Amino acid sequence: MKYITVALAKGRLADISVDLFTKIGFDLAQMKEKSRKLIFTDEERGFRFILVKTTDVPTYVEYGAADIGIVGKDTLLEDGKDLYEMIDLNFGNCKMCVCGPLKMKDQLDKINNLRVASKYPSIARSYFQNQRGRSIEIIKLNGSVELAPLVGLSEVIVDIVESGKTLKENGLDVLEDICDLSARFVVNRVSMKMEKERIMNVVDEFRKLVGEEK
Ligand code: PRP
Repeated sequence: MKYITVALAKGRLADISVDLFTKIGFDLAQMKEKSRKLIFTDEERGFRFILVKTTDVPTYVEYGAADIGIVGKDTLLEDGKDLYEMIDLNFGNCKMCVCGPLKMKDQLDKINNLRVASKYPSIARSYFQNQRGRSIEIIKLNGSVELAPLVGLSEVIVDIVESGKTLKENGLDVLEDICDLSARFVVNRVSMKMEKERIMNVVDEFRKLVGEEK
């Protein structure tokens, strides 16, 4: 039997995903142990699980190297890959927001050359273009984005807000909400045809688990 491969985003999302797969009867005890292993199998069910960097999950699934992926909506929106988004798993909930010093709130449409720092250049550009009808200068960063307005690299940032602690501790505020985010269950388009029964069994179990029965 061919393995069904599941790509999990290393870190907190993978930990919660492993708990969910365990709840629906998978044996993933090995993944609970601290190790540097990146690939795990449940021989009985014919599934294997791979741990990949969050931003790479859609790539593995789009190319069919993984049949299923569990990844944040932020990564899916930024990537724009052609995948089936099957379930909102309703964990890892947070928001994508425009943030900055409070005095910038009424300046977003006024400043000519607005510089926006973000790990999500595509989401930032499309929000300012489509929702506010303006062009901006994007400054792509890879982390600690809250620093940018504090040291004059940008006027505002587009970033994820979960507890709001990082903003608060750096004297910044949410200026505008862009969208709600959470973990999503995604499936490769070809796998969905070729392995429909095995994949839909898991989808149905997950839907029951997160209360999204259809
Ligand atoms: C994320 C995000 C914010 C922070 C928000 O960063 O980019 O900086 O978490 O969480 P909070 O509202 O609960 O404070 P992450 O921890 O991934 O680190 P990074 O800045 O290095 O990307």
